[in-house]
Order: sequence, then structure tokens, then C-alpha cells
Amino acid sequence: MSEERGPGPCHLVIFGATGHLSRTKLLPALHSLHIAGRLSDGLAIVAMGRRPWSTEQWCRYLREWLAEAGILPGSDGFDSFIARFEYVEGDLNEQATYQRLFETLSRPRPGACENVIFYLAIRPEDFMPVVNGLDGAGLNSGHGRHRIVVEKPFGRDLATAEELNRELHQHFGEDQVYRIDHYLGKETVQNLTVLRFANTLIEPIWNRNYIDHVQITVAEDAGIGTRAGYFDSSGTLRDMVQNHLLQLVSVVAMEPPATLDSRDRRDEKVKVFRSIRPLEQEDLRASVVRGQYTAGEVDGQAVPGYLEEEGVPADSRTETFVAMRLFIDNWRWRNVPFYLRTGKRLPAKMSQIAIRFRHPPQQLFQSTPMAEIDANWIRLQIQPEECIEIYLHAKEPGLDLKSRVLRFNTSYRQSDEPDGDAYETLLLDVIEGDRSLFIRFDEVEESWRVVAPLLDAWAGDESAPLPYAAGTWGPPQSDGIQTHAVHRWRV
Ligand code: BG6
Repeated sequence: MSEERGPGPCHLVIFGATGHLSRTKLLPALHSLHIAGRLSDGLAIVAMGRRPWSTEQWCRYLREWLAEAGILPGSDGFDSFIARFEYVEGDLNEQATYQRLFETLSRPRPGACENVIFYLAIRPEDFMPVVNGLDGAGLNSGHGRHRIVVEKPFGRDLATAEELNRELHQHFGEDQVYRIDHYLGKETVQNLTVLRFANTLIEPIWNRNYIDHVQITVAEDAGIGTRAGYFDSSGTLRDMVQNHLLQLVSVVAMEPPATLDSRDRRDEKVKVFRSIRPLEQEDLRASVVRGQYTAGEVDGQAVPGYLEEEGVPADSRTETFVAMRLFIDNWRWRNVPFYLRTGKRLPAKMSQIAIRFRHPPQQLFQSTPMAEIDANWIRLQIQPEECIEIYLHAKEPGLDLKSRVLRFNTSYRQSDEPDGDAYETLLLDVIEGDRSLFIRFDEVEESWRVVAPLLDAWAGDESAPLPYAAGTWGPPQSDGIQTHAVHRWRV
């Protein structure tokens, strides 16, 4: 544990405890960490919500949530998990709410509220009322023992992100702010750093001399569910590309950091963003496709189109799919296309990074036509299964000297290794004060700069996004952003 956080009791305060993020990500992660014995006995959790509940009512809610997850009374750690919680109700815009929180945190004994993590699992428009309220109630000592975790989106564009940051910094120092992008906590994404920098086999060829192009796909089969209110004003560019996909680009493309400490790693990621070739307005049509799903079938089930989803305005032009091509203008990557695509209601939930290498320069194996020889690939699947695949050529057994592709596939985990969720890693990191997997503000700034030309172009564009039927891989036009005929999306 970092000395800065110090020993002793720690409180985790979850704003938005009954919300979607808390239900689907935070509570499961906290429960798993609890069961695995990774939370210290001194960690108490305060659930904050608008519902006028007592702690008993919250605990009933928690029991129901556990039962839905198949975790029943009497099972290991059931009661002790529930016993960690207290509930504080209140309107986030009222100072009395923060006073109640202060009293709850002070109750065990004076000074017990000195080591506190405030997790903002709430709508972005509520961030600043909470920050002001905490400061107003004296819940910010101004140093790292009071930490604040901010979920994306951090602003709606560069200007609003800068404004939010300025306001946040009036109350909390940068060392207290943890901007979360849960993709950085995913195992295979962390593994990329190890794969690249711990293997002499890989790093020397990880550049424009050997790599032909890079593809990053983050596909979801789900639609927007009950999140129309948030999603329709955000869209896939803000929801997925500006953060998750660009973070993946930075981890694929960064130079080896001097050390693994948070400053060195984040310095290298920022350099990548700064080297991304600005998207020119006249190139946008050729290099970017935005789509919106129409009714279709996913997994054998008929599903409505985006415009028919509950809460979505009938004339919404919000994109649910983006495919784009980027270039990184530096010594390592110049002219290597990075193709990114992400969307909702695609055929499967699947995220991967696929690296295609160049063809060998000589066609030695005459009996296998060049067109039939696929190049080498490394494919890192992030989800659903985490695996590493390498495609190599080897001789096809037989009398002719013909080559064929062999696929070396290895599941990333050994069978007895537990699968942890990204939020488990990230929550532990916040508790321990390790910021390396969190986003520094200059990363946020630079990634907004990358997508700014698109935000500007789309804001003034009256045309609808290109349609794609739910259950397909997005508008067919997304095949057109590839610079070479041999470049194809790899499923
Ligand atoms: C969130 C987005 O950040 O990431 C969601 O707001 C998206 O729209 C989710 O569904 C995807 O995360 P994961 O871990 O399920 O791939």
C-alpha cells in the first residue's frame, strides 16, 4: 500500500449507488474482491442515493441484488459483505446531504473520515455539485488521502473537459483525481504492455518496417438498453472512441516507458495522441463512417432499431457505430493505418486488437499463389475469451513444398486462474493509490483533440448516419475506409 494513503480505516463512498454502473460493475467487483479477501477489514462502504432509504432498506436491496446474481444467504462472505455498507440518502444539490455524509463518516471515531474515496458513478452534470458539496462539508483535506474517482465522459469536447478540469482543480489536486477508463483495467490490455516489452521476439518487429496495419474492434451485441437519456446526447464517438478505443491505440503504439510508474507510462501515451495525424475535413468522408442501427436480428431474436428504442427521439441523428482510420506520424508508425471500429447491435460482443504483418518480399513458394498467402497476424482478443493468437506459415505436409497457415492459439488464463473484472483491478488501485491505469488530464485533452474535427463536422451535418441492420457488422461503407484492397476487417 502506498504510504500516502497510510494505514487505518478507509471509506469508499459511492455516489449513484443504485444506478446502472454500480449494479453492473461496482457491486460485482466489490463483492468479488471481498470474497477473495482483497479488501481490508477496515474498508467501509457508504452507498449514496436519492431514494429515501434507511441502511436496512439498502441492505434489503443488496440482498435482492445478490440473490439475482445467484449469491444466497449463508454463502461465504454474504453477511460480512453486507455489513460493510451504510446508506446515506440525499439530493446531490443540497448541502445537507454532504453534512449527513460527514456525520456518517465521522461516526466510528473522530478522524475516521480522513482516508476516503469518493466514487462518482453519476451523470456528468452532477459531478460539480458533488465536488462543491464535498468541499463545502470539509470532506477534502486537499491531499491524496481524499481521492475522487471520475467516470467518463470527462466533458463533451475539449472546451467542456477543460472547464470541468479547472473547476475540479479548484477543490481537488491532480494527485487526488482518478479518471477512470475501465478498458485499461482489462487483463488483455494490461498484458499488451508485458507482451510488447518483455519479449525480444515481439518488440523489434513492432513497427512500420514489419507491420502492415492495425485493427481495433470493440463490438457489442447489446443495444442501448435503458440508457437512452445518456446515450442519445453522447453517441458512440464520445461514449467509446474518444476514450476506450483511443486508449487501446495508445497502448498498442506507445514507446517503452522509462519505468512502469504512472508518470512514465502516461507520458508515453500522451506522445502517441500528440502524434496522431489531425483528421482533415476534406478526408473525413473517406476515412470515417458513422452508422445507426435499424431493426434486425441479434442472436436469433428480433430487436428494434435505434429510433424505436425507448426514450430515443424519432429524428435522432446520434451514431451507434463508428469506423475510422488513423495514422500516427512518428518514426515507428508513419503510414501504418490504424483501423478502429465500434458499435452497438453488432453480431457479437467481441473486442480485439489484430496486428497484420507485411507480406514476405519474395514469392519463394511458387505453388502457392501470392494472393492465397495471408500475412502473419497477431490477434489479441480482449473479450469474450481472453486469448492470444499468432498466425504463422508452415509447410503443408505432402510431396509439394507448399505453405499453409498455422494458428497458434493460447488462452490467456490457465484453467485454475480466476477471471477478474477490470473494475476489480481499478478499485484496488484506487484504494492503494496507484494511478498508472488512470487517465491524466493531458491524455483527456489530446484525445478530445483527435476527435474534435469529427464532432465539428457532425454537429453541422444534417444528414442521418448510415443505416445498418442490427446483427450486422455496421454499414457496408465501413469496408471503404481501408487504404488497400487486401485490408479487410478481421472478425
Ligand atoms: C462503457 C460505455 O464505457 O463501456 C457503454 O458507456 C459500453 O456504452 C461499455 O457498453 C462497454 O464496456 P465493456 O467492458 O462491456 O466492453
